Amino acid sequence: MKKGVFITVEGPEGAGKTTIIGMLADELEKEGHKVLKTREPGGIEIGEQIRKVILDKNNTAMDPRTEALLYAAARRQHLVEKVKPALESGMIVFCDRFIDSSLAYQGYARGLGIEEVFSINRFAIEEMMPELTFYFDIEPELGFKRIKQHKGREVNRLDLETMEFHQKVREGYLLLMERFPKRIYKIDASRTIEEVCKESKAKVKQLLDTK
Ligand SMILES: Nc1ncnc2c1ncn2[C@@H]1O[C@H](COP(=O)(O)OP(=O)(O)OP(=O)(O)O)[C@@H](O)[C@H]1O
Ligand SMILES: [Mg+2]
Repeated sequence: MKKGVFITVEGPEGAGKTTIIGMLADELEKEGHKVLKTREPGGIEIGEQIRKVILDKNNTAMDPRTEALLYAAARRQHLVEKVKPALESGMIVFCDRFIDSSLAYQGYARGLGIEEVFSINRFAIEEMMPELTFYFDIEPELGFKRIKQHKGREVNRLDLETMEFHQKVREGYLLLMERFPKRIYKIDASRTIEEVCKESKAKVKQLLDTK
């Protein structure tokens, strides 16, 4: 069986995750690699349905653990239906946010506990952990500034109110790097798009060379 490469990209809003995944995918495809870009729930019907339940404004009674379980359930389905077949066919899979987002946001910043959230996610993903995870590190203020400047989206009251929350998310990611030093590779995402892309690409190439 051919075996692909599973890479996830993490970091706060506006860090450049989607931009860089797009550039890496384009460059790698030009070099002849088969690449899948995805993000949860990734158009998978069951995952989309689960997401509707999570985001439904009427579900005000939703308990944080229920929410974490639903995210894990959607993750499982996306993994089984989309990521796994791509890996089995030998593709390079880039997933825009994955398990570490749950660990940093729900586990750490929301206070559910990194270990608790990890245990349900371990059940959900079994052995299918990414081989490499990029953590795009950036001051949350700069990330929001980029979103405002480039996407034309106003930084809303909620974004500002939760700047402290986003600082906690960053702390969470830094704790995860200590816990998974081999898997998570930190990139200084405050630099130019070209610099970030160059470093990310070099790291992916290094991984491909070990295959
Ligand atoms: N290194 C960079 N320097 C300056 N601007 C950047 C950089 N990387 C991305 N941008 C711009 O910042 C905006 C946010 O980037 P992008 O959407 O890729 O971030 P993201 O991490 O995917 O955010 P989100 O979590 O909201 O999906 C985009 O308009 C993009 O063009
Ligand atoms: Mg994005």
